[in-house]
Amino acid sequence: MVEFICQPGGRLRGELRVPGDKSISHRSVMLASIAEGVSNIGGFLQGEDSLNTLAAFRNMGVEIEREADRLRVTGVGLHGLRAPQTDLDMGNSGTAMRLMLGLLAGQDFDSRLVGDTSLSSRPMARVIDPLRQMGAVIESETGGRAPLLVRGGQRLRAIDYPMPVASAQVKSCLLLAGLYAEGETVVHEPAPTRDHSERMLRGFGCEVRTSSSEVRLVGGQKLSACDVDVPADISSAAFFLVAASIADGSDITLRHVGINPTRTGVIEILEMMGARLDISNRREIGGEPVADIRVRSAALRGIDIPERLVPLAIDEFPVLFVAAACASGTTRLGGAAELRVKESDRIQVMADGLATLGIEAEVLDDGLIVQGGRLGGGRVDSHGDHRIAMAFSVAALKASGNIEIADCANVDTSFPGFVGLARGAGFRIESSAG
Ligand code: S3P
Repeated sequence: MVEFICQPGGRLRGELRVPGDKSISHRSVMLASIAEGVSNIGGFLQGEDSLNTLAAFRNMGVEIEREADRLRVTGVGLHGLRAPQTDLDMGNSGTAMRLMLGLLAGQDFDSRLVGDTSLSSRPMARVIDPLRQMGAVIESETGGRAPLLVRGGQRLRAIDYPMPVASAQVKSCLLLAGLYAEGETVVHEPAPTRDHSERMLRGFGCEVRTSSSEVRLVGGQKLSACDVDVPADISSAAFFLVAASIADGSDITLRHVGINPTRTGVIEILEMMGARLDISNRREIGGEPVADIRVRSAALRGIDIPERLVPLAIDEFPVLFVAAACASGTTRLGGAAELRVKESDRIQVMADGLATLGIEAEVLDDGLIVQGGRLGGGRVDSHGDHRIAMAFSVAALKASGNIEIADCANVDTSFPGFVGLARGAGFRIESSAG
């Protein structure tokens, strides 16, 4: 079992570029595979999650050449995928499983989606139910859990679907199924969620109509090959945004970070807490806004996190709770029950770890109240959740003793090379994996 051992203290200096955006990487290989022609993808995340998605498409007959973070995908067109030879293993990734389910529901062959223990306990009914309304035939374990068997050869019909939860995964799943459906698929969002699918579908020549709270796509549209430049993942950059904010004497610049407005909740929240972030060199690359972010240490203060920011910072709460622990006063988060069904129960697991380090955190059904204080040392368990492991390594910068973090192998799902990059920037972190 991989462990991180983090010594207290340290300050961050220099410039760095974190790996490619996970959400965009998944989508790039999916859309390029079902497009017509050759797409070149740069900056692809070489993490386990996105590599599993890549392997799934190779398994369905798509020719994909990879050299480090560059892919050359020879698309097979909407109807060119072939029946996979084996189960499609989505590993730890909810995004991969939910998006793939939408795409596979429209194929003329059967397929079976499997995942690791964490993924096999995550809710899939949120995508299975609307897909069944579209005519898909999907078998699951009790309670809508994976493994999932998708029966091919069904005729899908478009639906008009009000999503009960604000989820980009559900929205994207239905848009992918919608490509194969007769009629216009309409998805209504209760709150804005990341819109990478909509942007990338347009890049591949597909017409997607959006208004403030709905997305519309007519089925049967062909996709044409398109080159994709994947920006650095703001969700990975978030660890350094918080780290440099809390560690005295820090000054770092993060290059080429994706700042899509449906992802920048973490920036808004940190700025409300008093962080010193300078955003420069704003540009648009392949339909996604990108910028450099300079971060200098600052005295953070606790805040009430506005609920509207929850979907826009959904993956950043583990490290934001660490920011809250280092802030003066109280930070309150509500309306975030979704955190309980991520790679781990991120409300409970963070509260437990913070308590071990001497921070008071009151667990709510849908959030957490964190009392800023002095972080001590101790041994915490990430429960195999990549973002929890990285969040506690950030905490060490402000701790008074060593922090040992158990079960860290899954950091490679989203942030390969984290330990090396973090050490280079000034973290005092070691991994038992070397
Ligand atoms: C993702 C959407 C989010 C996020 C996940 C990636 C995506 O999930 O937590 O890490 O790529 O669409 P939900 O939209 O289900 O909240």
